[in-house]
Amino acid sequence: MIKGFIFDLDGVITDTAELHYKAWKALADEMNWDFDFEVNDKLRGISRLDSIKVILDHNNTSLDNATLQQLATKKNDLYVASLDDMGSDDYLPGARELLTHLRTEGFNVALGSASKNAEKVLQQLNATAYFDVIGDGHSVSKSKPAPDIFLFGAEKMKLQPEECIVFEDAESGVDAAKAGGFYSVGIGPKERVGHADLRFDSMAEATLFEIKSYFADLF
Ligand code: BG6
Ligand code: MG
Repeated sequence: MIKGFIFDLDGVITDTAELHYKAWKALADEMNWDFDFEVNDKLRGISRLDSIKVILDHNNTSLDNATLQQLATKKNDLYVASLDDMGSDDYLPGARELLTHLRTEGFNVALGSASKNAEKVLQQLNATAYFDVIGDGHSVSKSKPAPDIFLFGAEKMKLQPEECIVFEDAESGVDAAKAGGFYSVGIGPKERVGHADLRFDSMAEATLFEIKSYFADLF
């Protein structure tokens, strides 16, 4: 039986990809690195440090660890500053409605995000109260596609993976959900999240009615 839901944040609850893009792009321009939306899309779900490594690989460049850390911090400062403009209107369409519905029906709800800025994003959205458990980039050391962040959420909710549905927009996030034995809902194109149990193009279609209809035996 499904008793809990675990949500990724960036790309599921709110669209921060654009803000991440702007911050990485500013750094890339300063460093004379090539960086575009296609590379940015590869950064979905992966940690800040892994992200800068992907960007360097794309530019056939490498840097020592201290410089990597320093540049990642620089990008993060730009990203965090841009979050100040985010507000309670910045949910992806459908996300707040689903979270509200889950609250009304008494499901357990956890956040399972790779971001170390998740708490700040939730505060900006005024979304903290929708979550019983917050799993973020500080909660576990192994990032997606390892299942650790979702296992953390399930454990804190005192649920088994097979009692939870994970919502993800990243390929590595769906991989993580599957590796942990969770049911998964992918948000986005087939090429990215087509391996999820159920897929929607956007959160607007991901209503509790649709989810219950698809996973009918589990409710
Ligand atoms: C994920 C994003 O949620 O968090 C990634 O999809 C991002 O793009 C990662 O790199 C880490 O975020 P932060 O806020 O800790 O730099
Ligand atoms: Mg995401």
